[in-house]
Amino acid sequence: MNILVGYASVHGSTAEVAEFIGRLLRAYESNVTVSALNDVQDCSNYDLFVIGSAIHAGMWLQEMSLFLERCADALKSHPTHMFITCIRVLEADGLQHSLEYYVHQPTLDKLGIDNIGVFAGKLDVDEIDWNERWLLASNYDGTESSKHINHDYRDWQEIANWTHQIARTLELKPTFEQAKHTE
Ligand SMILES: Cc1cc2nc3c(=O)[nH]c(=O)nc-3n(C[C@H](O)[C@H](O)[C@H](O)COP(=O)(O)O)c2cc1C
Repeated sequence: MNILVGYASVHGSTAEVAEFIGRLLRAYESNVTVSALNDVQDCSNYDLFVIGSAIHAGMWLQEMSLFLERCADALKSHPTHMFITCIRVLEADGLQHSLEYYVHQPTLDKLGIDNIGVFAGKLDVDEIDWNERWLLASNYDGTESSKHINHDYRDWQEIANWTHQIARTLELKPTFEQAKHTE
């Protein structure tokens, strides 16, 4: 099974989540490619897509929109799972809010994507320039952004559970052999 784990990331933390998911999927009989979505032009070689984006200013990144458009036919005809990383999910109503406002449901419906993992991300204030601070401060649609600064909130156990659930659903076979991979 050829698997693409694709990501759209500005500061690298969503890319690391994709790397992690890729490593886990390599424990199954598979040929896993982990790649920035921008670098994937030809989607015809994959049997399974796991694609993720950071949320910036209330929406997934443009790279994700372009990829969904470019690869629509392949995504429609193969199992596709999506994840997003954000900080809003850390608030009390965060999961529900993120699913309601951070993903474009009509697009997902059109592509038949119904599994969305919503993961807490990472904010490192030293990596964020003043424009981004302004963007975050002016667009953030929760009430607690100031609490969620300068921390790595990624829950690797949760991400692992989500990934293994995908493998179980697809009945992927665990293997001892080193799976082939491309990066
Ligand atoms: C400029 C900027 C805007 C952001 N906007 C949001 C937002 O609207 N909602 C949210 O929950 N998180 C927001 N975040 C948090 C990011 O989703 C989180 O830090 C994510 O892990 C970043 O992923 P990356 O390192 O792959 O870019 C924002 C972060 C930045 C830097």
